[in-house]
Amino acid sequence: MAEIQKGLEGIVALETKIAYIDGIKGILEYRGININEIMKLSYDEVVYLLLHSKLPTESDRTKFINRLRDERVIDEGTINIVRVCNFNIEAMDALRTAVSHLSHCDPDLNDNSLEANLRKGTELVAQFPTIVAAFWRIRNMEEPIPPDKTLSHGANFLYMLRGTKPTALEAKCMESDFILSAEHELNASTFSVRTTASTLSDMHSAIISGLGTLKGVLHGGARLAVLEMLDEIEEPEKAENHVLNLISNKKRVMGFGHRVYKTFDPRGIIFKQITKEIAEDTGDLRWFSIAENIEATVLREFVEKRNKPIYPNVDFYAGVLYKYLKIPPLLSTAVFAIGRISGWVAHCIEQFADNRLIRPRARYAGEHDLPIRFL
Ligand SMILES: CC(C)(COP(=O)(O)OP(=O)(O)OC[C@H]1O[C@@H](n2cnc3c(N)ncnc32)[C@H](O)[C@@H]1OP(=O)(O)O)[C@@H](O)C(=O)NCCC(=O)NCCS
Repeated sequence: MAEIQKGLEGIVALETKIAYIDGIKGILEYRGININEIMKLSYDEVVYLLLHSKLPTESDRTKFINRLRDERVIDEGTINIVRVCNFNIEAMDALRTAVSHLSHCDPDLNDNSLEANLRKGTELVAQFPTIVAAFWRIRNMEEPIPPDKTLSHGANFLYMLRGTKPTALEAKCMESDFILSAEHELNASTFSVRTTASTLSDMHSAIISGLGTLKGVLHGGARLAVLEMLDEIEEPEKAENHVLNLISNKKRVMGFGHRVYKTFDPRGIIFKQITKEIAEDTGDLRWFSIAENIEATVLREFVEKRNKPIYPNVDFYAGVLYKYLKIPPLLSTAVFAIGRISGWVAHCIEQFADNRLIRPRARYAGEHDLPIRFL
């Protein structure tokens, strides 16, 4: 049997045309377009690119955007499902439950044709923000705010959360977050999505697998951990000691390190720029300064002193950005999912188009031929 690669590190499990990563040079492309160029698009356009493999014509663009905006509304049944959630949970857990409920209502639940999956996927992309915002409003004894079709995906989410329209800069930052979170090749949650799809299960089930996997602190849950770390540190002067304590206690610094990137994560670089922009705009540099001090200490301690490639990843400055956007920590992983759903849908579609069951092997390390003995 082949040698074990713990955590499947370095294993190439399949071919994809959705995203390209060069972890040594720090390059990321969506459908062949560099992430720095991708940032010129709206989230809606990125969704089209991921789902349809190309950018839309002008008329397809308008149709698609209108469609996404029309589909934002969620039915009363789904809102009622959110109402009966336990509100000490993260929004992520409520989102997983709501997607399960949505699947019951879908007339094409078990139809895995391209047409059905494009429809189901487009609707899920449109509805994720509405579900997450409804969770937050209901949790705070407020009524959910219906979506506003005139607003971008990012602006509308903040509007449904707060009840007031965000500033242009806040809306741009939220859009950027969704775009930067949209897709990242065969990360853990996307692998889960594709594994579920590969059994010829249905798209909703595959997305639920992705949600469960994204929640973990070593994956999307790192944004919540970053927010908690910022709160714990409180002041920029305390950041260095905080990091040194983590290192001496052999604990991980959340938002740092990556399985694939052994240099700066290109998404992290963009997140840092936009976070700086909003920090300067608010005139409150506290969270950004804490973050810069954490980053400087991690780079000095790991990269310079120990020659270990531990750089800020996508979740570090995303967490800092959420501070400035006043995204409640309980929502942080679900907000990541609002962006990532488009990548998951694209991978589901790609998996169904050329499917083979994903089923690796494990090397048995137990005993053999034991007698039955009740203890
Ligand atoms: C993302 C992550 C899980 C990748 O893990 P991986 O590729 O399996 O790497 P490993 O867990 O084997 O770590 C390799 C080494 O780097 C160290 N390391 C990795 N990330 C670290 C971090 N954030 N802080 C401190 N040390 C870290 C490990 O302790 C290990 O050291 P060792 O070789 O002396 O034992 C890991 O970097 C991590 O836990 N990061 C923090 C959580 C996070 O931000 N997740 C979001 C990822 S986008």
